[in-house]
Amino acid sequence: MSVIDLSKNNSLVNEYVSEIRNASMQKDRFRFRKNIERCGQVLAYEISKTLIYTEKKITTPLGIASIFVLKEQPVLGAILRAGIVLHNGMLDFFDQADNAFISAYRKHAADGSFEIALEYLSCPSLQDRIFILADPMLATGQSMVKTLEQIFLSGKPSQTHLACVIAAQQGIDWVLENIPDVTIWTCAIDMELNANAYIVPGLGDAGDLSYGNKIQH
Ligand code: URA
Repeated sequence: MSVIDLSKNNSLVNEYVSEIRNASMQKDRFRFRKNIERCGQVLAYEISKTLIYTEKKITTPLGIASIFVLKEQPVLGAILRAGIVLHNGMLDFFDQADNAFISAYRKHAADGSFEIALEYLSCPSLQDRIFILADPMLATGQSMVKTLEQIFLSGKPSQTHLACVIAAQQGIDWVLENIPDVTIWTCAIDMELNANAYIVPGLGDAGDLSYGNKIQH
């Protein structure tokens, strides 16, 4: 198990995250989605460096080139709805991947408390596959753990990677406590959650900022 925080190194991903967090730039919904997508591309590229490659001979017009290519395609998962944009960015890079989709949302009670409801799953067999799950905001980690428990009913992956834009330390701890065998990749780590379990300073609601407000259920 490990946690890789891309913000620890200087790279363009910090530029994208600074725009994603910026309350006035967030008004541009297209740019917000584009930056989340670009984070997905960077995360995919970083994860790709840790995978297994195999030598392939490619015939060019002038000869044979030897190139190391991915030994196997991963399965990319998205938690609906906020994960769709990050997933799209990863799919730009892992462009031949298989895909999985699961819905997870906060079902609110009258007292403001909520439980995580999972309602939709579309997933290939994950047995012995490399599985990469996109969820831009890892807050309490509860929906991530519930989602993974549900999704692992479709088989036990050989590797599981979680790809996030912002992860709260509390969420990271909860995931690693409950599902130790994962690698968490994130573009930034924040230390606080507010009373509504939003990450602080975070960026707000990634799903609403990508797609517009929703009715609270
Ligand atoms: N989901 C979000 O979109 N933002 C948070 O801060 C936490 C969960």
